[in-house]
Amino acid sequence: MRWHIAAAGLMGLFAQSATAIPMDIDNDQSVKDAAATIAFGMMSYYTGNNTGDTPGNLPDPYYWWEAGAMFGALVDYWWITGDTSYVEATSQAIIHQASPTRDFMPANQSRTSSNDDVGFWTLTAMTAAEDAFPDPPEDQPQWLALVQAVFNQMASRWDDLNCGGGLRWAINDFQTGKDYKNSISNGLFFNLGSRLSRFTGNSTYGEWATRTWDWERSLGLITDDYEVRDGAHFNVTTHECHEDSGPHVWSYNVGVFLQGAAFMYNVSEGAERETWKTRVDGLLGAIEAKFVTNDTNIVREWYCESGFTDRGRPYQCNIDQQTFKGYLLRWLSSTSQVAPYTYDRIMAWIRPTAIGAAAACTGPVGSAAPQVDSGGIQPGFRGIDGTACGFKWTEPFDGWAGVGAQMNALSAVMYTLTHRGLAGGKAAKGPVTTAQGGTSKGDPSAGSTDHSSRGLAALKPITTADRVGAGIVTAILAISIIGGSVFLTI
Ligand SMILES: *[C@@H]1O[C@H](CO)[C@@H](O)[C@H](O)[C@H]1NC(C)=O
Ligand SMILES: *[C@@H]1O[C@H](CO)[C@@H](O)[C@H](O)[C@H]1NC(C)=O
Ligand SMILES: *[C@@H]1O[C@H](CO)[C@@H](O)[C@H](O)[C@H]1NC(C)=O
Ligand SMILES: *[C@@H]1O[C@H](CO)[C@@H](O)[C@H](O)[C@H]1NC(C)=O
Ligand SMILES: *[C@@H]1O[C@H](CO)[C@@H](O)[C@H](O)[C@H]1NC(C)=O
Ligand SMILES: *[C@@H]1O[C@H](CO)[C@@H](O)[C@H](O)[C@H]1NC(C)=O
Repeated sequence: MRWHIAAAGLMGLFAQSATAIPMDIDNDQSVKDAAATIAFGMMSYYTGNNTGDTPGNLPDPYYWWEAGAMFGALVDYWWITGDTSYVEATSQAIIHQASPTRDFMPANQSRTSSNDDVGFWTLTAMTAAEDAFPDPPEDQPQWLALVQAVFNQMASRWDDLNCGGGLRWAINDFQTGKDYKNSISNGLFFNLGSRLSRFTGNSTYGEWATRTWDWERSLGLITDDYEVRDGAHFNVTTHECHEDSGPHVWSYNVGVFLQGAAFMYNVSEGAERETWKTRVDGLLGAIEAKFVTNDTNIVREWYCESGFTDRGRPYQCNIDQQTFKGYLLRWLSSTSQVAPYTYDRIMAWIRPTAIGAAAACTGPVGSAAPQVDSGGIQPGFRGIDGTACGFKWTEPFDGWAGVGAQMNALSAVMYTLTHRGLAGGKAAKGPVTTAQGGTSKGDPSAGSTDHSSRGLAALKPITTADRVGAGIVTAILAISIIGGSVFLTI
């Protein structure tokens, strides 16, 4: 009932709004101006730089990880357009959330944050290193070292005892997801490994990425058709494990593996490169099959935009899911840079998507997506009147305004410039590395203290574990679980 009333109200609003965002997709300045308007609308939700608020946080009902993802979009926004408007706010946010422990495990978030939440903030640090985003002062955490810290901690959480490997969703034993191995947590680990491998030239990271890919395949989480399923549950007592994702297939799962596979393609050679090319092509095929409309080539969130029913009405993306297709666009753009042979195929999707997205940015001030299930009500749009973006890009403004809609549309529009050399050609050259243009300072041994409830210094040397394999990992995990139980008992 709530839905019908909301929809009727929105239709009324739609009739009034007129402004829209003009955009000539072949004119760099015009695209840049459109992106600036959308970015401004996105940042109008951000409260973290208000006096008394915490840098890096979005207001309720947005989760902490979504803010991390938003700053990732802003790092790329600066890189591609050269607009410095949000550089300061972005640096401040990342550093504040990373700082106390230098691994994106701030105490304020420790009860709720899982491997994927931490992983999204870490991707933002990785992007900052790759985009040569201005480095923080020396006494502050550095982008590359942050990524290495989280990567090392994730590697120490690799769990051979259940499902033959992989990371659990949860970091702590008291959290939801302690018995779930999900593709996004493992995909983020894979993605970071492949990108660290390219950035640092250290192949140990790539070995972990390969191991993670093989494990996803072994469990059928990546299918023979390269569809990426959501995850597998296991029984904590019997360790019995089964893939049970249900009908949902999400764009961010396939996207996070696509970008990682493209980086592996970029750093490998010979037969190995051919193997990764096959995987990149397979994942692109899986994206095309579900997440790109057949007739118009517009990117969509398949499960929420194809009329699937849930409790008698069309399935609606929750607040998190409303953001997924924006990350898919981000990872498609990056793929087209490190695996340039994919450029034409990918741009044939991004361009019509950008046109559809800009055309759907016509909502008035105050627009807010309807409430979905248990999620809270998103705040009303406060950007320029008549430029609030909608969620669907295959139709005019649908009323589903929010941080997600703005972030997605920003991505769609700005990534059309991926190769077009704005901003002194920075972005056009592709992501930097330590050997070529990168300045971010690393620390391969960062992250040796695990700031989870286990409180154990669970870090093990990756090379050793990689060679010796299961034995050591299992032993460490057994200790960790005991540590966790003790914590719970206390
Ligand atoms: C917070 O940042 C936004 C965007 O950078 C800016 O428009 C706004 O004025 C800032 N607010 C404060 C209180 O600094
Ligand atoms: C944690 O919360 C406190 C109190 O709101 C705040 O002052 C601090 O900045 C927060 N720290 C982080 C890293 O968010
Ligand atoms: C795990 O397996 C045990 C033993 O078969 C069973 O009693 C328990 O209900 C299972 N737990 C779950 C969550 O299925
Ligand atoms: C496109 O058409 C093919 C063949 O009819 C179908 O299998 C596929 O699901 C369609 N894709 C989308 C995104 O609708
Ligand atoms: C690796 O990426 C760079 C761009 O960063 C690109 O110039 C190069 O051609 C890529 N290598 C391959 C084999 O595609
Ligand atoms: C490569 O990375 C691994 C894993 O972090 C680390 O143990 C090793 O010292 C690194 N090697 C070099 C040469 O930095």
